[in-house]
Parts: sequence; structure tokens; C-alpha cells
Amino acid sequence: MSKLALGILGSGKGSNCRAILEQIRAGKLAAEPCLIVSDALDAGILDIAREFDVANAYLPPGKFRTRLEPAVEMELVKMLEEAGVELVVLAGFMRVLKEPMLEAFPSRIINLHPSLLPKYPGVEAWTQALAAGEKVTGCTVHYVDAGIDSGEIIAQRTVPIWPNDTPQSLHARIQIAERELYPEVIRSFSSTR
Ligand code: GAR
Repeated sequence: MSKLALGILGSGKGSNCRAILEQIRAGKLAAEPCLIVSDALDAGILDIAREFDVANAYLPPGKFRTRLEPAVEMELVKMLEEAGVELVVLAGFMRVLKEPMLEAFPSRIINLHPSLLPKYPGVEAWTQALAAGEKVTGCTVHYVDAGIDSGEIIAQRTVPIWPNDTPQSLHARIQIAERELYPEVIRSFSSTR
């Protein structure tokens, strides 16, 4: 069986990317990481790509803060297509994708979000859940559409909120669940295609 070709995009430290690459290396996930791209030059995810010997690139995002410049997004499509990517995995990628990516990879872009969507989309979802007095939060993997953290939900995992939690302690607990959930979802894509 051929391996599912992954393109991984991230803006930050890349702990979820690492969890995916570790599972691939351990033979627990039948996928091939073809390309890792970041919009941040100093992002940890690019160090992880180098550590695991995966082709990687810094993509200067252009003049906007929350999205890529259209020409840059077209360039991203080209890079991913040339690398033969079948599934685009957003792992802490903090920009909203627009038509070029959505049209090139229909139902083939997934995102991980640190809340039980549709609750608490956007930034610092764990802080939002804590401030709202929730007793339970979690993480969600969903298809990416034109909205912010709004596409069809694929899988979720719940995480308890303890009375003495700080934003940091809660985020750390959610991230443990994320690192289990995301590879599991990718495994289901790899086994059902
Ligand atoms: C993860 O917690 C992920 O859920 C979040 O960014 C973090 C990336 O961590 N994504 C979002 O908030 C998307 N809206 P990582 O760089 O260590 O994988």
C-alpha cells in the first residue's frame, strides 16, 4: 500500500508536527512527509523538519497579518503540488487560507484547534474556555473551509479543566490530547483512501 503524502504547515514550535513525524518513523502511521512549510523564519517546526530530514521551506507571507498574499498562496499551492502532497495538515498554522489553497485541495486540508469547536474559535481558545468557567474543553480536528476554525468536524477529544488550572497548565493538557488525536485522524485518512 502506498503511503499518504503529507504537506505540513505551521507557524510555531511544531510539537504536533513532531508527534506526527515520530509516529511515521516508528512505523505506526503509513504516511510520507513530503514538505513542511512555515510562514515564520524562526519557527521551531522548521528545526523539526531538519531534524527529521524532511524537505522544508520558509514562505515569506507578504504584507497581510492574518492571511497570505494571493501570489504567495499560489506559490504555496505550486510547492505542495510539485511535492505530490495529497493531504495538507495544518499544525499551528496561524493564517487563514483562501481560494487558491481551498480550490487546489478540496476536502484535503485539515486543521487542529485547541477547543471543542464550534465553541471558542480563534486565538488562545484554552484561555477563552477557562474565562467562560467551563469544566471541560478539548481539541478538534476539522476540514478547513473559508471561515475561521469553522469547517466540518472530523474528530474531537475532551480534556477536563481543573479548579486550579492556569492558561498554561490547561494548554499543556490540551496539547497532550492533540498529539494523540492528530496522528490518529491522519491514520484514518491513510487507511481509507
Ligand atoms: C496547537 O495547540 C494547535 O491546536 C493550535 O496551535 C498550537 C500549535 O502547537 N492551533 C490553533 O490555535 C489554530 N486555530 P505546535 O506548534 O506545538 O504544534
